[in-house]
Amino acid sequence: MTSQNRKIVLLPGDGIGPEIMRVAVRVLKDCASEFGHHFEFAEFPFGGCAIDASGMPLPAETLAACRAADAILLGAVGGSKWDALPIGKRPESGLLALRKELDLYINLRPIDLRPSLRSLSPLNADRSRDVHIDIIRELAGDIYFGEHRVESDASGERATDEAVYTTGEVERVAKYAFARAEARTGRLVSIDKANVLATSQLWRRTVTRLAADHPGVKLEHLYVDNAAMQLVLAPAQFDVILTSNLFGDILSDLGAALVGSIGLIPSMSCGPGPSLYEPIHGSAPSLAGKDVACPVGTILSASMMLQESFGLKQEADWIKSSVDRLFLQGIRTADIAEPGMTTVGCSEFGERLHVEMLGALDHHKRSSRGV
Ligand code: IPM
Ligand code: MG
Repeated sequence: MTSQNRKIVLLPGDGIGPEIMRVAVRVLKDCASEFGHHFEFAEFPFGGCAIDASGMPLPAETLAACRAADAILLGAVGGSKWDALPIGKRPESGLLALRKELDLYINLRPIDLRPSLRSLSPLNADRSRDVHIDIIRELAGDIYFGEHRVESDASGERATDEAVYTTGEVERVAKYAFARAEARTGRLVSIDKANVLATSQLWRRTVTRLAADHPGVKLEHLYVDNAAMQLVLAPAQFDVILTSNLFGDILSDLGAALVGSIGLIPSMSCGPGPSLYEPIHGSAPSLAGKDVACPVGTILSASMMLQESFGLKQEADWIKSSVDRLFLQGIRTADIAEPGMTTVGCSEFGERLHVEMLGALDHHKRSSRGV
């Protein structure tokens, strides 16, 4: 076992962000102490709380720390307190600026139905049997980063959002998707709106051209409206999905609903530098401060960090399997509660997970010593 020294920047953010972050950090600390790693944590203001403290959602010091980190763990940003601010000044603009500054162009959102949560899926038993989809969302381009403009004259207002993609931007994320499909079942579905949008036509041309370099991948194209329907009607046909920034935002929430709760889904965003890990849900202001939020998306984001950024597969699997065992024991947060099960708050879920993780390790150590 080689021990690792890693610098992890924490951006708890707003709403339920700090609560779920506390639970995930405890998991990472357990991992460090049990497996002999040294993780150094440094927390920085980001989002609405940074606006309150310094007037800016992404302070220069926060960005500098992120650049120098080995990996970044983010909670969530935003809340009604900052809703009246113009687009470029909101907490969310800090998140977009961070993605842009670190050039985080790949966003991986695994949509996995956990067998113990099957009955929470809105899909019937037949359809929900096999939902294991990797959504790869382009994260640094599209309508998110084009110019947003509002003009007004005597007749009223006129708003414009510009969507832009270049060949290079499509190529680099598509290469990642082909590689991911090759490492899985070789099925890749690229989702666009090429019957209407010029950006989508460029997207489809580029992805189609790259397919020639990946004969082992069976590539299919779907329009996004049809894809949304197919995801609900026959999700098992999907393995790896590649799509643009806006469509990926929408389809990943849909995917989360298929597997029981948006609270469960982690994500990884990567580019040339440090990767960022975050749950795909938002700051859920109505749940904040009540200790009822589901920390699983953030816990699984921490597990993804261990696996993808640090190559610590054993540690990552230890966390995931411990979460699954808690689910099997009927330990649930409110969003995934079911009759006859034990509904716990965010911090209690963390407490029980801590006990479960250490217990599993004890058992493992004992049985490997033949005790
Ligand atoms: C997400 C979120 C963000 C996005 C918001 C908070 C800007 O919905 O990560 O899916 O639209 O990308
Ligand atoms: Mg979203």
